[in-house]
Amino acid sequence: MAQQMKPFPKNFLWGSASAAYQIEGAYREGGKGLSVWDQFVRIPGKTFKGTNGDVAVDHYHRYREDVDLMAKAGLKAYRFSIAWTRIFPNGNGEVNQEGLKFYDDLINDLIAHQIEPVVTIYHWDLPQALQDEYQGWESRRIIADFVNYAKTLFDNYGDRVKYWVTLNEQNVFMQHGYSMASHPPAVTDPKRMYAANHIANLANASAIKYFHEHGYQGQIGPSFAYSPIYAVDAAPENQLAADNAEQLNSYYWMDMYVFGHYPTIVRNWQEKQGIAPEITVEDQALLENPLSHPDFMGLNYYQTGTVAKNDTGVGAAAENTSGKKGTIKESGVPGMFKNVKNDYLQKTDWDWNIDPVGLQIALRRINSRYNLPVLITENGLGAFDTLEADHEIHDDYRIHFLREHVKAIHAAIDDGLQVIGYTTWSFTDLLSWLNGYQKRYGFVYVDRDEKSAKDLARYPKDSFYWYKQVIASNGEDL
Ligand code: NOJ
Repeated sequence: MAQQMKPFPKNFLWGSASAAYQIEGAYREGGKGLSVWDQFVRIPGKTFKGTNGDVAVDHYHRYREDVDLMAKAGLKAYRFSIAWTRIFPNGNGEVNQEGLKFYDDLINDLIAHQIEPVVTIYHWDLPQALQDEYQGWESRRIIADFVNYAKTLFDNYGDRVKYWVTLNEQNVFMQHGYSMASHPPAVTDPKRMYAANHIANLANASAIKYFHEHGYQGQIGPSFAYSPIYAVDAAPENQLAADNAEQLNSYYWMDMYVFGHYPTIVRNWQEKQGIAPEITVEDQALLENPLSHPDFMGLNYYQTGTVAKNDTGVGAAAENTSGKKGTIKESGVPGMFKNVKNDYLQKTDWDWNIDPVGLQIALRRINSRYNLPVLITENGLGAFDTLEADHEIHDDYRIHFLREHVKAIHAAIDDGLQVIGYTTWSFTDLLSWLNGYQKRYGFVYVDRDEKSAKDLARYPKDSFYWYKQVIASNGEDL
């Protein structure tokens, strides 16, 4: 007789996600200060047709309507980020009460609808004041400011918020910000990137340690953009190349959170290149202290990568979830690896590999390497959607994508892995950092078409009703 699969846990957090800059708008309201993104998008040529988050989908004014829609979908959890600049307009100093109240109201509204708030402390919108004052992540001064900001959130919302995500996709904001120059502060310098990244690791560890030492109830961890890497074939050199890619693109970033040290191979190579970050004795003590280690790993999963050995000697290519290929030029180890096409996988409208099995592999690798439960903090399909005359959106491609990924999570649970929840990207359509509003991820369509836009009206897509049924059946009815 066929054995039944293990069911999804009873309290599985079926949810959806967003980030402040991508949805809120109201960029100069409520006492908010300016973030590096408010400034960066104004530099000509940086984003698609100069799109920005000044208005975004106006969630700041419409959060009640959005929470009502979440309740209609039956969401059990909602992951959102807090804009540092609403709490501390200048990054430090006086708390802005109006900003505190905005998130207080949002959290209360979620709880009134039985939706678990999952709060991201930092989703890329660094206060511009800190960039100006001391170069943001490049100065150790940010550690105290970040902890003070996190502490303010724990003190004000910790009675109601039980899941905290510290830094969102540190690997992405560091690589784009300091290697590819496609995010602020638009630098191309691996040495500076690794140095800033080390400081972000210290800030992350300090905030987690503070949380654990001060008796707050709940769980805390970072969310990481992990794309498992395959070798193009079974040739040992290609397998080695795949291992190189995992070490450089993923383990280098994730190991620090849990083990408190960088993998030897990457560290050794950085030293040879003269780009290794400086690690003090005090840093080491902090990073190795179990109190500064996460309670869960947040996983943002979009795709896998495939590599082969690199004969060209040009250097290691870095690819991350944003699908942007860039080259860490100076840091390339000749022959390390090169990204290649995977003939087994189809692509999204934005050329990202579609690979649900890769999600099961990601869950296995993270779980077995770190022995921590995983909260899937993002997964979704960016696509062009069509709003029909009757205001329906038939996004069967998104349903198909999500269904296959939910099956993969179920398979991982059946493997015995601990998965806490699944907050898809995204609930409403929202601003894509570099691609504007044409790339849609949501269950809810937001009408931003300049000709027809009726006040940013919201329309549930077919996938909204599909997800509602998945949640209601706890993942049985797909
Ligand atoms: C990851 C980021 O956290 C999110 O902000 C972004 O929009 C999605 N990936 C899609 O690119």
